[in-house]
This record gives sequence, structure tokens and C-alpha cells, in this order.
Amino acid sequence: MTVSELLASRRGEEMALNDRYLNPQMGRILRTLGFEKVWSGGEGAHLIDSEGNRYLDLFGGYGVFAIGRNHPEAIQAVRDVLEARTGNMPQLGVTLLSGVLAEQLLALAPDSVAAMVPANTGTEAVEAAIKIARAATGRGRVLYAEHAFHGLTLGSLSINGNAEFRDGFGPLLAGCDPVGFGDLDGLARELAAGDVAAFVVEPVQGKGVNIPARDYLPGAQELCRRAGTLFVCDEVQTGIARTGRFLALEHWDLQPDLICLAKALSGGLVPIGAVLASRAAFEKVFDGMERAVRHGSTFGGNDLAAAAALATLRVLQRERLAERAERMGALLLELTRPLVERYEVVREVRGLGLMWAIEFGPPAGAGARRLWERVERRQPGLFSQLITLPLFHEHRILCQVAGHHMNVIKVLPALTVEESEIRRFAAALEETIAAAERYPRALARFGVRTGLRAAAARR
Ligand SMILES: Cc1ncc(COP(=O)(O)O)c(C=O)c1O
Repeated sequence: MTVSELLASRRGEEMALNDRYLNPQMGRILRTLGFEKVWSGGEGAHLIDSEGNRYLDLFGGYGVFAIGRNHPEAIQAVRDVLEARTGNMPQLGVTLLSGVLAEQLLALAPDSVAAMVPANTGTEAVEAAIKIARAATGRGRVLYAEHAFHGLTLGSLSINGNAEFRDGFGPLLAGCDPVGFGDLDGLARELAAGDVAAFVVEPVQGKGVNIPARDYLPGAQELCRRAGTLFVCDEVQTGIARTGRFLALEHWDLQPDLICLAKALSGGLVPIGAVLASRAAFEKVFDGMERAVRHGSTFGGNDLAAAAALATLRVLQRERLAERAERMGALLLELTRPLVERYEVVREVRGLGLMWAIEFGPPAGAGARRLWERVERRQPGLFSQLITLPLFHEHRILCQVAGHHMNVIKVLPALTVEESEIRRFAAALEETIAAAERYPRALARFGVRTGLRAAAARR
């Protein structure tokens, strides 16, 4: 059966197949939330269900669809590679497209980096960065920020600042230690012994959308320089124009030793990852012919990923998507910041470019607060679901809770998103928050219903 025949003849079996062979716990979550849709298409900033309804996709496949879903130019680039029947992955040989991609990425990156190590995913890029830093410095320790997220393979997991991901998978890599995100004194203390290979940090943390104070990242970079520690920016989520600059590090004029990229780099079509490395670090790792293949990955730098990435860069530049992200992000903040004043449950609205979040907290009134606490006792972070559910079911807007047990909703729209959709989201959000605050009992009802549904799904 061809792909189109399969898509047509077995449509509707997604959930059953998932439950049987993939992740039944995910199936339970989807049923509990009523998110068990059959998605039949994606276009630009939207997902399309089997009845043809368009949903504004603010989840963005965890942030891979910067140029929008199924961008025709990225699709064409992949087709071109297939039609050209390129001599892909000769392995004992090199190819043109990944070379051109490296050339273009490095031209867009700060002067501190001069070479590219290809990979296939974000976590693979982070693993490469850890290895390069250790080999380049001859040191073993790696520092990371509390609440950091760098991926879920064992090396990246060892520098993950969230217990819910780490628990049960130990022992993890030795020598990996957390420091507070924003805590320069803590970082200086950890660096003092001179045994730290790298400090790995997201310019804006994905879990919670935590934006650092103005002087934090430049200060951290300076401390690393002085300690002989590599300063590593994980731009897997913040890169590719997400925050209104091609790389978020441009907001602070950083010059890292290593930069990790992935996610949106190939337009969301083909898995991709890359580390941009300083010449010095690169040459300490690949320091002789017998060490030329000391690190790598079979599919790293393959033609399909490189071509999709080159098309993505072309679209970003031609459509000026970094500027657009900055403009749309500013509009979204302008429309949503007033919610902090208008609604007791809204604690903070924050964002950089089109990486945006809203944080909720308990209301002041005693009765409403008791209800909040009842719901939150059931499951911390449940209030956020009281917002995401009506957004999905009543407004056809898909957005995510920004991490385990936190009342933060996050959005990562396509950078091509229309202004009217940003306005629609802001209005729908306010309507939903107003309803949640006006009818606090809905909180309790929702908590009970969700609990019951979860119990039913468990059976
Ligand atoms: C900052 C950051 N680094 C690394 C990763 C891991 O990327 P991947 O899921 O492609 O392995 C993620 C994924 O969300 C991320 O946000």
C-alpha cells in the first residue's frame, strides 16, 4: 500500500494503534483532555482536523515549525534532493549541501564559532557539545542551570534541571552539577576549582520561558572565559529567529565557544541538529587523521536535512521572519501584559519574540483561593489546564503547559503567524481567564471531572 492509500484507508485508527503499540499513557492523557483528534493536515500556523477545522497551533511541534507547517519551499527542497538522487552519505567522502549549510550558518553566527559538527536532533547536538567540551579542556565537570532542559538521552539528561525527567534513570553522568539560573555568584563558586569543562545554558529557558536578567549571560560568559571553561549556548529552542534574532544570543552580543542548534533549523520536515564550535575547541577534538571520526553520527549532515535547512534559511531571510517574530512578539506582549492588572490569577506575562508565556497563581479572595488549592492538591499545575482546554475546545487554539507541575502556559507559534491570529489568541485567552476567575467553582468541577475521566481512562 502506498502512503496515500494508507493515509486514506486507515484514517481513524491512530488512537487504537497508539494504545496497542506506542504509548498508551499518552492515549490516556489525550482522552482525559479530549484532545484525541485525527489530524489530517498542517499548513502554516495551523493544524487541520479530519473535519477540515483549522486550529491555531501554538505548540508548534515543540517549536520546530518556525517557517510554518509544510512550507512549500522546504518541501520542494526535499523533493529536489530525492529527484536529484544525490550521492548522499558516502561516509568515506564529503557532500556539498552540508558544507553549504555550515557556510551559511557560520556566516549568521558570532565570530567565536568557525566549524560545524552535524547531528540529527537537539539532544544529539547537546551530547556532542558535552563531549567536545570535555575533550577540548581535558576536564570532566559540566555545569547546567536549574530548570534547564537539554534533551532526554543520558548525557543531556545529566544536565537536565528537572527531577521529573531524571528520576529513575540514574546513575547519570558523573560531574554534572546545577547552578541557579541567574546566579552568577553560584556559578563563580562552582568554576573556582578550575575543573569545569563547560557551562551549558539556554539563553531563554524553555521550561517556563524564563528570561534572564540583562547582565546574566554576558556575566556567565566572562566567568567561563576566566576559568578556562567553555561557554555553551543551547539554542535548540531559541535559535532560528524564535526570539526576534536569528540566534537569541544576539540580544546580549554573546560569543560562545559552542552553540547547539536543532528543531526549526530544517523547517520541521527532517530531523536535524548541529553544533557550531570555536576553531580552538574543534581542533582539540579532531586533532589528527586517526581522530577524524572520533565523534559523529551516521545520518549527521545528510542531504535531506541540509536541503530542508537551506530552504528554511532562505525563507527566514526573504520573509524577514526574525523581524516579524520581534514585531508579533511585541504585539502579543502589548495585548496580554494588561491581564496582570485585570485578573487576580495572572501573575506574570513574559516573552522574547515569539517565545511567550503566562503564569498563574492563586487568587486573593479566601473562597476562591480555597477552591484553587483544592484543585491544585489534585495535581499541581491543573489550573493551567482550565485555560488550555477551553482554548482548544471552544476557540480551536492549541497551546501547552510549559512544564510539569507549573501553572505556566507557553506558546511557540509559527513566525509567519498572522497578526489577526495573535489578536484572536489574546482575546480568547482573556475570555477564558475571565470565565475561570468569574466562575471559580468551575475549577473544582473541572478538577473532579478530570479526576473521574482519568480514573475511567485508567480502567
Ligand atoms: C533547549 C533544548 N535543548 C535540547 C532539546 C532536545 O531536543 P530534541 O528533542 O530534538 O532531542 C530541547 C527540546 O525540547 C530543547 O528545548
